[in-house]
Amino acid sequence: MQDEKLSSAAAVAAPSAEAEEPAICARGVCLSFGGGTVAVLSDLDLTVARGEKVALTGPSGSGKTSLLAVVSGLLRPDSGTVRTCSLPVETMNEDELAKMRRDKIGIVFQHFHLMESMTALENVMLPLELAGREDAEEKARESLSSVGMARRVGHFPSQLSGGERQRVAIARAFAPGPELLLADEPTGNLDFDTGKEILDVLFSLAEGGEQTIFFITHNHELLPRFGRVCALRGGRLETR
Ligand SMILES: Nc1ncnc2c1ncn2[C@@H]1O[C@H](COP(=O)(O)OP(=O)(O)O)[C@@H](O)[C@H]1O
Ligand SMILES: [Mg+2]
Repeated sequence: MQDEKLSSAAAVAAPSAEAEEPAICARGVCLSFGGGTVAVLSDLDLTVARGEKVALTGPSGSGKTSLLAVVSGLLRPDSGTVRTCSLPVETMNEDELAKMRRDKIGIVFQHFHLMESMTALENVMLPLELAGREDAEEKARESLSSVGMARRVGHFPSQLSGGERQRVAIARAFAPGPELLLADEPTGNLDFDTGKEILDVLFSLAEGGEQTIFFITHNHELLPRFGRVCALRGGRLETR
């Protein structure tokens, strides 16, 4: 009887196979451009556990943006395996990859990539509408409000400062509640205080949640905030 109780308790406590699987698992990834003339990633391994907050550094041109693109299925590596949010990225077709990005991943691009002809609110609503969410406007307003942009919802990107545009880009990435947030130097064009504020916003949005953050930054003063720091050098990752 006691044994039975123990084993059923263990069954309840045991995390599901999916929960155990890392958010990102890349093995032996090689990526080159120019028909193999420019090698960018060389036999690269990367594991990011669910809920982990990892920073990625590395000199300009070392392949950080390329790695983010491989993880999100925007670029196909020459070889190697990539599992992102438990999905086999290298075997998926374009439609499946687009669905994965829509449903599971939020990406904050280095240069914001906001739609210039749309207001802040419309920009943030876009991915929610594409996902068929009926509460798109409510969610978008909530997300903009959480990054301190409630009073700027009707502004177009050209009417916003760099820091404000970056907040909108973060609100857009976070609004659908992604499992994985990928950020490409989102503080790179901002002054230190604004950069720190943006990071505070990101961490407060992810706090309490299971969100995994993989964050490219050159800003060494921000690194202590992360659970782990990796550096990309010579096409491979070193953990510091
Ligand atoms: N689409 C592309 N075509 C050719 N070369 C590229 C392309 N994208 C990136 N590269 C090259 O790959 C290298 C890594 O670029 P990138 O991933 O943007 O580095 P980082 O983000 O670390 O600055 C650079 O040498 C860059 O010139
Ligand atoms: Mg880059």
